[in-house]
Amino acid sequence: MLPRLSQLLLAALALSGVVSATPSGDEELRAFFAREGAAVKPLNMGRRSAATTPTRHLRPSFEDDEAMMRKRDITPPDVGQVADFGGQDPEPIRNGAGDTFLATSNHEIDAQNPDNVAAPTTDAGTVPNLKWSMSLSHTRLLKGGWVREQTITDLPPSKDLAAAELRLSPFAYRELHWHRVAEWGYILNGTGRISAIDDSGRSYISDVKGPLNGSDPDIYYFPPGVPHSIQALDQGLEILLIFSDGNFDASGTTFMLSDWLAHTPLEIVAQNFGVNVSELGGIPQKDPYILKSTVQPPPFGHASEQAVQDPQGNVPSPFVFHLDQQEKKSAPGGWVKIQDAATNFPVSKMLASALVFVEPNGLRELHWHINDGEL
Ligand SMILES: *[C@@H]1O[C@H](CO)[C@@H](O)[C@H](O)[C@H]1NC(C)=O
Ligand SMILES: *[C@@H]1O[C@H](CO)[C@@H](O)[C@H](O)[C@H]1NC(C)=O
Ligand SMILES: *[C@@H]1O[C@H](CO)[C@@H](O)[C@H](O)[C@H]1NC(C)=O
Repeated sequence: MLPRLSQLLLAALALSGVVSATPSGDEELRAFFAREGAAVKPLNMGRRSAATTPTRHLRPSFEDDEAMMRKRDITPPDVGQVADFGGQDPEPIRNGAGDTFLATSNHEIDAQNPDNVAAPTTDAGTVPNLKWSMSLSHTRLLKGGWVREQTITDLPPSKDLAAAELRLSPFAYRELHWHRVAEWGYILNGTGRISAIDDSGRSYISDVKGPLNGSDPDIYYFPPGVPHSIQALDQGLEILLIFSDGNFDASGTTFMLSDWLAHTPLEIVAQNFGVNVSELGGIPQKDPYILKSTVQPPPFGHASEQAVQDPQGNVPSPFVFHLDQQEKKSAPGGWVKIQDAATNFPVSKMLASALVFVEPNGLRELHWHINDGEL
């Protein structure tokens, strides 16, 4: 594997609410399994009523896991590792230490971060913050969408990876730009069209979609330095982006085509493109970032109609990966789809990802990555 290959983990479905659920949760579970079809087996519909309930591990080649589980089927001593606030607001009390809030606290945030309020007794030393909520990020509102970011200043331990969320109104587009880091995108909703040109002048255009019609969403990847643009189609578009540097948005690292043109004398731009200066009056003078479109592009699935006849040809390897064309790899406690440069998405040399479904009571087993971060 490449030294900088970074592992990203996406929990596809937030099922944490189901784990501690009331009986009505069973309906949700059955609906989920009915929807997912035979690819997912409902292996353990039981509730975690006691510490003795075997946990299903998500490990693809784990044979005879029932027997393995029984060996460990013991109730460990309660050392205060699991926070239990008895359904009340979390208080900074655990295992006989701490005391209540005498003044006040933001109980909604506390409830989302119980291990911050009442740290596990096993914590040692200074525990850095390992979580960032995009709801705490500044959202930049633009004509035709918005963007919010998480960079190293928000989440200092994430030195090698940063994230952003980008929303485009129908037909709006993120203008042509490029940066020194790699960009990976996971389509959260809607449909869009991406275009790019590599450093050999070879072009690429393709449509991308979110989890529509019950399918898994598409992923895209732009290598460092490759100029790209993204246009939303008729449903609009929302994307989760990951960058291969925690400080990806440091000043001077991302370049917009409009910015370049705005800083170049118009006579030179006109001469460069072989047009009359009078035709360049519409060049934006201030970084628009997102632009509204007045021209409706060909609909989803018709990207080829916008492909240019490129004398250099097309890029040798696609920049889009279709998760719904990949088989699920089933495991005792769920399933996984892995995307990486070595097996199925050659262009994505600096970022890899896994779409992981962990069933209720399932567990992604203890693991770590020696050289790579995970966001
Ligand atoms: C996508 O957007 C539509 C329209 O707002 C909404 O009904 C749907 O639930 C969204 N899907 C996801 C996966 O968020
Ligand atoms: C989803 O299904 C609808 C209705 O069949 C279809 O019109 C649409 O193109 C599909 N969308 C995608 C992204 O496949
Ligand atoms: C550029 O356009 C202006 C306005 O239409 C026209 O007067 C001028 O002759 C044009 N110049 C050239 C070199 O075509």
